[in-house]
Amino acid sequence: MRKSDAGWVTDPKTGGLPKVAYGKGIYVYDVHGNRYIDASGGPAVYSLGHGNEEVNAALKSQLDKIAHGYRYTFTSDALEELESLIAAGCGPNYQDMVFVTGGSEAVEGALKIALQYHTAKGEISRRRFISRRRSWHGNTLGALGVSEFLDRRAAFEGALVEASHVSPANTYRPPTGVTPADIATFCANELATEIERLGANKVAAFIFEPVVGAAGGVVPAPPGYARAMREVCTRYGVLMIADEVMCGSGRCGTWRALEYDGVEPDIMPIAKGLGGGYVPLGATVYHKAVADVLFNIDGGPMTGHTFTGHTLACAAGVAVQKIIRREGLLARVRSGGTRLLQHLRTELKDVRQVGDIRGRGYFIGVEFVADPITQEPFPAALGVCGAIVRAAAADGLLCYPSPTNVDGINGDTIILAPPYNTSDEELDEIATRFSTAVKKILPQLMR
Ligand SMILES: Cc1ncc(COP(=O)(O)O)c(C=O)c1O
Repeated sequence: MRKSDAGWVTDPKTGGLPKVAYGKGIYVYDVHGNRYIDASGGPAVYSLGHGNEEVNAALKSQLDKIAHGYRYTFTSDALEELESLIAAGCGPNYQDMVFVTGGSEAVEGALKIALQYHTAKGEISRRRFISRRRSWHGNTLGALGVSEFLDRRAAFEGALVEASHVSPANTYRPPTGVTPADIATFCANELATEIERLGANKVAAFIFEPVVGAAGGVVPAPPGYARAMREVCTRYGVLMIADEVMCGSGRCGTWRALEYDGVEPDIMPIAKGLGGGYVPLGATVYHKAVADVLFNIDGGPMTGHTFTGHTLACAAGVAVQKIIRREGLLARVRSGGTRLLQHLRTELKDVRQVGDIRGRGYFIGVEFVADPITQEPFPAALGVCGAIVRAAAADGLLCYPSPTNVDGINGDTIILAPPYNTSDEELDEIATRFSTAVKKILPQLMR
């Protein structure tokens, strides 16, 4: 089998990726017995860590009954229970959803539900999407089209869904000439201007990540931003899609990430932490006002796939979500997240090249810069975040590199996203080991 050179972790024996053997909690073991702390949960997936016995027992029990009841033939206890758990997490306006197998499908579903909604209302001219620069919404053609991740788009340019890209909302890197305090107003005006430029009757939806993940290196929106963008969307009849694939399902310490901002989106794709990685699972959740239109005019949403509502995947989601609720893990994420942030800030306070340490809950980004005064990034060719991630992995700590976050080419951020049930001692070990890798590698690269 051919191997790509995209790996961040190297097996010293083969020179390729290590072969995974098993996992338990925050630990993963390879076939040689090497132990890794999974400090980023892959790409922020493993909300309960690995090998959870209760989740595994629930999966076995479901398999003993049936793996998959096809959605046009059957509903199931697992599917209905997962719908209730998600609705309870999201609030009374979100009772309707389409289950899928991951984040890209969930975003694709969100784009299609937005289009179907406008068609059902007789506004078929609303076909255009607006998203943000430095955003990632997935790898299908629609989701990639609204994303602005230059190197992931390049091979497919010309065949992507057309989208406008407006400014991201990053207090560490505000738009030129804008103060952090003015970002919300600036961005809301920019969105309104773009909608008017295109013609409001042409715009279907604005899609954004409430806390940007891989494309920005964990960027929580500043206070007031989401409200201001919500107000513009409502004013022009444009739907708001909050992509919570990475930041949602509790990762930021509230079930919906946007709950923190006091804002309700019209459509919300979720995935990753929802099923905790036990079985591929995602969902496109949509607001009652959208659901009323879809059900009254068309009888329901016109999106979904063969494995929509897959029974075993729903059973995984139910087991994971029940544990998160029963054990009060969202409160744990809020308090533990503060601890992890503080620990990192203390350990790294004297490292000049650490420009910013930010995040919400168990979703934290550390950004490295060549010059902390000008915030100038390192040249991409230096490969700073890749080198740190590889050094950490060699020392048994897995974290997630987010390069190119500044301008699509340069930028070095590393993401930490541990399981929600990580203990204080484990959090401290993550912070210490991560800081050790940073302090070891940066001086070598600066030479
Ligand atoms: C915000 C966001 N949306 C969508 C996706 C796509 O999800 P998936 O890789 O599960 O298709 C990702 C994946 O990283 C993501 O971070």
